[in-house]
Amino acid sequence: MMRPCSKWSAIRSTSAMGDHISLKSQWVPVCPVDELGVGDQTTIELASGEQCLVINSDGELFAVSALCTHRALSLAGGIVQRGVIVCPWHRARFNLATGQGSRPASGPIKTYEVAEIDDYICVRERENES
Ligand code: FES
Repeated sequence: MMRPCSKWSAIRSTSAMGDHISLKSQWVPVCPVDELGVGDQTTIELASGEQCLVINSDGELFAVSALCTHRALSLAGGIVQRGVIVCPWHRARFNLATGQGSRPASGPIKTYEVAEIDDYICVRERENES
């Protein structure tokens, strides 16, 4: 897992001032590492308004869009096993690493970078995302 600690002080300073913190290349703190145990998931809203679902699947962290590409309903609460989340509405399955989905999904879900920084789980946009 990545531990890019160099930007963390800047993130905390920006966050403390109440500014938008989800600018590209900036890490957004989600929660302390020990608050997201194996099998747990949590949803945060980014400054862009996007819902980001952060998941601990068998000890590996993933961050993906919280909205299913079938009918834009929430994936939160979906069963997670071995890096795959099952949409609780119509059972589309999404690979948490790639975002690729099975039918009836209409396409992949967005994935985010996730890292542990100073004992916090943090997410950010991927550099190649528009
Ligand atoms: S809303 Fe997810 S499969 Fe239909």
